[in-house]
Amino acid sequence: MGYSFTWKEDGVLRTESKRMPALVTRDGKELFYNQVIAALEGWGDARNDASRAVRFGDGAPFTAEEVAALHDTARHMRSVQVAFKWQAGDLLLLDNEQVMHSRARFTPPRRVLAALKGPPIDRRGASLGVGGASSTAVTTTMPALTLRSFDAMPCVGLGVWKISRETTAAVVYQALLAGYRHLDCACDYGNEREVGLGIALAIAEGVCTREQLFVTSKLWNTFHAREHVEMACRKTLMDLGLAYVDLYLIHFPIALRYVPFDTRYPPEWVDDPHAATPRMELASVAYQETYQAMEQLQRAGLCRNIGVANLTTAGLRDVLSYASIAPAVLQVEMHPYLQQSTLLRYAKAHGIAVTAFSPLGSSSYVELDMATHADSCLTESVVLDLAAKHRRTPAQVVLRWAVQRGTSVIPKSSHEARLRENAALFDFELSQEDMAAVGTLERGRRFNDPGVFCEGMGVFCPIFD
Ligand SMILES: NC(=O)c1ccc[n+]([C@@H]2O[C@H](COP(=O)([O-])OP(=O)(O)OC[C@H]3O[C@@H](n4cnc5c(N)ncnc54)[C@H](OP(=O)(O)O)[C@@H]3O)[C@@H](O)[C@H]2O)c1
Repeated sequence: MGYSFTWKEDGVLRTESKRMPALVTRDGKELFYNQVIAALEGWGDARNDASRAVRFGDGAPFTAEEVAALHDTARHMRSVQVAFKWQAGDLLLLDNEQVMHSRARFTPPRRVLAALKGPPIDRRGASLGVGGASSTAVTTTMPALTLRSFDAMPCVGLGVWKISRETTAAVVYQALLAGYRHLDCACDYGNEREVGLGIALAIAEGVCTREQLFVTSKLWNTFHAREHVEMACRKTLMDLGLAYVDLYLIHFPIALRYVPFDTRYPPEWVDDPHAATPRMELASVAYQETYQAMEQLQRAGLCRNIGVANLTTAGLRDVLSYASIAPAVLQVEMHPYLQQSTLLRYAKAHGIAVTAFSPLGSSSYVELDMATHADSCLTESVVLDLAAKHRRTPAQVVLRWAVQRGTSVIPKSSHEARLRENAALFDFELSQEDMAAVGTLERGRRFNDPGVFCEGMGVFCPIFD
């Protein structure tokens, strides 16, 4: 019958099902035929090719007829399916050789990678259309900053702001394959589900384990009230498919009116995007209230560390005055044009690790019309000269400078070559003179300034003086 069962002494029924030995996952685990069907059907996304969801074990794709046969099977399964509503105490015995069953309702897209048994596939990531194990992974061990919890935050992470939803899963997977173990995410970036897919694929394919990853997310401005902090964090965790994040930051010291998930997610900056004149609506929530709710998240194990972003020394001093769990990390804009040396020194002196966002300067803001190509520090002769001297790219010089200042960096790129370039910072070193030369580029030039961009949403909302 395909199963055996025994009642154990404590009253628990132990069942053992026979698996179907003809089917294996790519890493050799046996699986049920319905998982192959689910993989194929779950690929019901117009952007993708359904036939990529399942392969033969040697990597060969299914022919059109074979895919059609699987779809026929799926159609048959749907036509005879029975939905059984469980109640406490119900016992349902299924013959696994006769029926396939699922305890969870199927919600596409579900990208189970399945293969019919055969030689192992050596084409990791094929399902996302990205280069797989054949491309060389970064082999250097990534140095890390030790946080006050003794957790290690890798010095280079991938920032995922403005990576399109369509490409996020593939970019994240590619980054993990290239050796990244630190991902910088946020509710506001609107791509946490896709980041989760990329992580899940990498873990499923043995590229990394969850424990090797350092995943950051951020509490959005509309969820600052104490009663919204935990639900916002849980929504992020659900989207990422993780039980905890390694670091949860308060994204901005700006509280906005609450927007329920059903109304809009992510809520973004303006309260009603369909209004004749969309505008931001500030909420009166003390930062202390938000921070103390963040401490509760750490106590509850939803995040391993908490931190803050976009604060000044005055903001940090205030937080430190009431924190029972001091911030582990401060994340702020930092690049050669905005070095924030006083803030960096103050944070370090209080055991707060600093992450530099927008570490390449203006690059990220050109597409938003908040900077022009002429604002780039990457074309400064100081940087070009150092790049030539060290035989590295201008981006590598600027990122290496940031790492040597003792910060971590989270450059964003959607391109594989640049992902690898941005992580390859640990086989050269800038001398003291080199560091000082980059230091001369300070301009006090901030590109990400709510005091400026919020005016476009009807509110003058400076947070930096
Ligand atoms: N806490 C906050 O408030 C906050 C604010 C802003 C950003 N962040 C975080 O910080 C991350 C990084 O900041 P960011 O995205 O603003 O800026 P960034 O990483 O400094 O710059 C990204 C831009 O530089 C380009 N780029 C990447 N690598 C390059 C290279 N090697 N050479 C030349 N150009 C390169 C990218 O283009 P391609 O993609 O085309 O390669 C993109 O246009 C974000 O993704 C986000 O995670 C946090």
